Amino acid sequence: MGSQAPKAPNGRYAQITGWGMYVPEKVLTNTDLARAVDTTDEWIVSRTGIKERHIVAGERETTATLAARAAQEALLVADVAPGDLDLVIVATVTPEYAFPSTASLVQDALGADKAGAFDLSAGCSGFMYALSLAADVVRAGGAEHVLVIGAETLSRIVDWTDRNTCVLFGDGAGAVVVSVCEARCGVLASVLGSDGSGGDVLILPAGGSHAPASHETVSSGGHFAKMNGREVFRFATTIIPKATEQVAQKAGWQIADLALVIPHQANTRIIESAVKRLNMPLEKFFINLDRYGNTSSASIPIALCEAIREQRIKGGDKLVLVGFGAGLTWAAVAIEWGIPMPVKPQRPERRWFGRLRFAFAGVRSIFRRVERHVYNWIMGPVGKDDWRGKLRKRTDALRERLRGK
Ligand code: UT7
Repeated sequence: MGSQAPKAPNGRYAQITGWGMYVPEKVLTNTDLARAVDTTDEWIVSRTGIKERHIVAGERETTATLAARAAQEALLVADVAPGDLDLVIVATVTPEYAFPSTASLVQDALGADKAGAFDLSAGCSGFMYALSLAADVVRAGGAEHVLVIGAETLSRIVDWTDRNTCVLFGDGAGAVVVSVCEARCGVLASVLGSDGSGGDVLILPAGGSHAPASHETVSSGGHFAKMNGREVFRFATTIIPKATEQVAQKAGWQIADLALVIPHQANTRIIESAVKRLNMPLEKFFINLDRYGNTSSASIPIALCEAIREQRIKGGDKLVLVGFGAGLTWAAVAIEWGIPMPVKPQRPERRWFGRLRFAFAGVRSIFRRVERHVYNWIMGPVGKDDWRGKLRKRTDALRERLRGK
């Protein structure tokens, strides 16, 4: 499946207007890992290209906090107020909870009080699925601004005694704002795919409804990610060139037209294989996995931010973003970059005002929690017909009137 920007446009296109990334400060090098498991810097670099990764430290850093930091930056770049967002989508395989969604927590942290919010699970392809969906919603007229985030704390589901997996993954978040535009640019085509028969190739076996958490699931390590690396490798080397060709064709482009390909950052050998199959120069592929490892849903938006920072993207460039991962899933998006680069630096006072708004959102969130608590404490249980029940009915009616319902 996938989509294509219409040839006879309804005047609506969807382009990326803001971008931001955030990674935790703590860095774990290959040498650090070699002290914990039977591995070497030489093995990790030669087999994967990874030199170091960032990981969260302590309970205060979670998928939602990383996501919110990346999102704040993206909103500041786009100069879009949180209150103007229509939708917040967080792609993640390491959500804060099964429910509520991480997206709802981020929506609250940002003060995006008019936005719907939901999480999207499509393995490492999650951000690409979310981006494609966001562009479709914007083009169809269902939204003006959608915040799309890929955020992960994979260090929390990695078995730090398993050298097959622990050397590969890192934590981080990347976000983009997808906004309506009139010129034919932005996300022009997408390709989404899934082959569920490969579900067991990359899996977190326990903690879901299939194997709820129990002493047994914990003692057998069922709450850690399991992967058949060779199978994923084989799948990735085929699907990246295939999906790239398909999405370019859908957008009406030749492979030679592409200015930059931003692939999922899992392994340099996977990327090099795709480069060969597509017969493209390696310089046209953006690679930063040496510093972050595989950050799953966050890898492509983080790479996009760094590509922009390194001035690898110009206005009018034709880009393909392409990912693959658990599911098995894959996704590619063709983007004609609509914004003249580099973007003009924002006035400091405007940025300052934006940051103040985020601080206010935090205070408002605390106030709402306290208010809900106090209200329920004073009013007692719902449905009671005593004086407290009557007071609750009156207060509810007044609140609804004040909210204009
Ligand atoms: O986002 C999607 C998620 N995952 C991926 O994209 C991963 C895709 N797969 C890969 O990147 C590669 O398959 C790996 C990097 C995971 C593994 O590379 P490989 O070249 O496929 O190695 P292998 O699994 O064939 O293992 C070769 C050897 C094995 O030893 P024996 O059985 O040949 O004696 C492994 O036990 O390397 C050993 N090995 C290690 N040695 C040192 C595996 N991990 C390590 C390690 N350090 N960390």
